Amino acid sequence: MPVGSIPVGITGTGICLPERVLTNQELEKMVDTSDEWVKTRTGIGERRIIDETMTTSDLAVKAGEMALENAGLTPDAVDLIVVATVTPDMYFPSTACLVQEKIGAIKAAAFDVSAGCTGFVYALAVASQFVQTGMYQTVLVIGAEALSRVIDWGDRNTCVLFGDGAGAVVLRPVDQGFGILSLELGSDGSGGELLKLSAAGSLCCGIPGTSGKESRAGYAEYLQMAGSEVFKFAVRIMGECAANAVLKAGMTNGDINLFIPHQANIRIIKAAAKRLRLPDEKVYVNVAKYGNTSSASIPVALHEALLEGKIKKGDNIALVGFGAGLTWGAGVIRWAV
Ligand code: ACO
Repeated sequence: MPVGSIPVGITGTGICLPERVLTNQELEKMVDTSDEWVKTRTGIGERRIIDETMTTSDLAVKAGEMALENAGLTPDAVDLIVVATVTPDMYFPSTACLVQEKIGAIKAAAFDVSAGCTGFVYALAVASQFVQTGMYQTVLVIGAEALSRVIDWGDRNTCVLFGDGAGAVVLRPVDQGFGILSLELGSDGSGGELLKLSAAGSLCCGIPGTSGKESRAGYAEYLQMAGSEVFKFAVRIMGECAANAVLKAGMTNGDINLFIPHQANIRIIKAAAKRLRLPDEKVYVNVAKYGNTSSASIPVALHEALLEGKIKKGDNIALVGFGAGLTWGAGVIRWAV
C-alpha cells in the first residue's frame, strides 16, 4: 500500500447460494460421467444452481445486503458498488447498476469488472483505491455469477465444474496497520483462447448484410475451455502470484494465518499449496459444496471461513485467484474487525 494512504479493510461479508443443489448423481443422468470421476478429478460433490426466475443480480443483491448488515450499515451509506461477473444479467446496463436500484443505494456510483474467475480480486483492487485516496468511505464489492446459464449441459468436460452464487464484502477505512497490505494483479491475453465465451460479442454478430444466425457462425453460445492447459497455468500462477503478494506485504508464508484460493478444483488448490509449502489447515477449501463459482468463489469462501471462526482480528489472510483472460490476482489482508 502506498505510504500515506488511508488503510482500507473488509468490515462485513455476505453470501447468497441458490437453494437448488445439483449433485454428481444427477449429472450422471445428463452426461457420460460418474460421481467417482468428478470427485477424484475435481473434488466437487455438488453445486448450487439458480431457478428459472433468478438472475446474477438477484444473487448479488442478497449477498450485498447481508454484507452491509454484517458491517452495521444501510444501503444509503454506500458510495460505490463494484460487481465482478462474467455472467451479467445483460450486456448493459451493468449488473452493478441493477444492484444499486434493487438495494436502494441511492447515492452510490456503480460499475462492473470483468476478469474471469479473478474478477473478485480485481474488483477488490479497483474498489480499494477509492477508499485509500479518501474519495469514498464505503464501497460494496460483489462477486456474482450464474454460470449455469452459459454452460452446455451436454458437455461433460465443463458442465460438472461450475456452480452459481455470490459473495460480497464492504470496504471501509480501518486502523493503521490493518486492512489490505498488498495486491498483485496480472494478465496474459495470449491465453485468451483457453477459456472463453464468444457468443454475441462484437466479433461475431451485427455485420450488415448478414442475418444474426449467419454472422454468428463459428462462435459458441456456451463457455469453452481447454481444461488441462488451464490446469497447468492455474497451478503455476497461483503459487507465483500468492508468493509475490506475500513478499510485497513484507511477509513470508509462515506469517499467513489462512490462504483463501479460488475454488476451481481441489487438485489445483493442493498442487499450488504444495508449491507454497502450506500445511492443509492453512488452506481454506469448500469446492466440494459449490464447484467453481468464478468471481463468487473467494468472497463465499472468505465468508464461510469467518463463520467457522477461522479468521480473527489481526490475522493475515491471503487471497489468490486465476481465470479467463488469462488473469490472476492475489492480496494479503490483515483482518481489521
Ligand atoms: N466425466 C468423465 N470423463 C470426463 C469428464 C467427465 N465429467 N470430463 C472429461 N472427461 C474425460 C475426457 O474426455 C478425457 O477422456 P479421453 O482421455 O478419453 O479423451 C479424460 O476424462 C481426461 O481428461 P483431462 O482433460 O485430461 O482430465 P483432467 O485430469 O485434466 O481433468 C479438468 C479435467 C477437471 C477439467 C481439469 O483439467 C481442470 O480442472 N482444469 C482447470 C479448469 C478450471 O479451473 N477452469 C476454470 C478457470 S476459471 C474461469 O475464469 C472460469
